[in-house]
Amino acid sequence: MTRVALVTGGNRGIGLGISRRLVADGFAVSILATREEPAEVLAELRELAGSDALVRYVQGSVADLATHARFVDDAVDAWGRLDLLVNNAGVGPSVRTDLLEAAPEEFDRVLGINLRGPYFLTQAFANRVVALRDEIPDDRPVATVVNVSSISATTVSVNRGEYCISKAGVGMATQLWAVRLAPEGIVVYEVRPGIVATDMTAGVSARYDRFFADGNVPIARWGRPSDVAGAVALLASGQTPYSTGEVFHVDGGLHVPVL
Ligand SMILES: NC(=O)c1ccc[n+]([C@@H]2O[C@H](COP(=O)([O-])OP(=O)(O)OC[C@H]3O[C@@H](n4cnc5c(N)ncnc54)[C@H](OP(=O)(O)O)[C@@H]3O)[C@@H](O)[C@H]2O)c1
Repeated sequence: MTRVALVTGGNRGIGLGISRRLVADGFAVSILATREEPAEVLAELRELAGSDALVRYVQGSVADLATHARFVDDAVDAWGRLDLLVNNAGVGPSVRTDLLEAAPEEFDRVLGINLRGPYFLTQAFANRVVALRDEIPDDRPVATVVNVSSISATTVSVNRGEYCISKAGVGMATQLWAVRLAPEGIVVYEVRPGIVATDMTAGVSARYDRFFADGNVPIARWGRPSDVAGAVALLASGQTPYSTGEVFHVDGGLHVPVL
């Protein structure tokens, strides 16, 4: 049976790295994102999959809860099962702004996409997994949720407080869902990237180039989407069935306190 993965924001950046890796590992992958269907990306993924039928795209915002049922239904209608949800889609504030100046509208936008959206998408996914399953095998989970958070879950940036709070919230959501879904046979993990070269960091690349050059990161290079994808693939492989609620850092050791 082909395993089925849902990947939010799987069309660009870290999410595209995850989509590529999951397709290469034999998953059927459905992507949710807000842009028009990305023809070139889908063609590449379908070639990698060896079949047009193994990659789907749903256009919509994860912040819009009505989109969740559409996303989940589309995959179940196409493939009849659900094995993995990767809550990857995320945004920073439109403009990095000091805490004393930051706007409540931006706070609501970032929290809506980064925290509220994935929290309720996890609910929709889990309810459907429970409805679909026959029985819980005692030797492996029936499904996996991976939340992509950030080093910002625990590291302060005073010019993007809403982003840090959203990612700290994802950390708690991971623990909440891990406990609630354990009896349902669903394991939940958090992957916590450090500084990864994508559109999100393109505008501040000079600052982070200096940060690496100054020796602030033990593995002194930019993270790549494939680095994060490797961690997601590992956690989605079913090789860690007695672990849930875990945080897996993909940050070159940035989170390790150094004196
Ligand atoms: N890059 C880093 O250094 C870094 C570090 C730590 C954590 N992260 C986290 O990693 C995740 C991916 O980041 P990235 O660097 O790959 O960012 P990115 O290059 O800006 O890509 C963001 C992705 O999210 C999708 N997206 C944005 N808003 C959405 C919405 N409302 N609904 C559905 N999809 C939406 C985008 O697709 P559309 O534009 O088509 O909507 C795109 O696929 C985010 O959660 C981010 O917080 C990134």
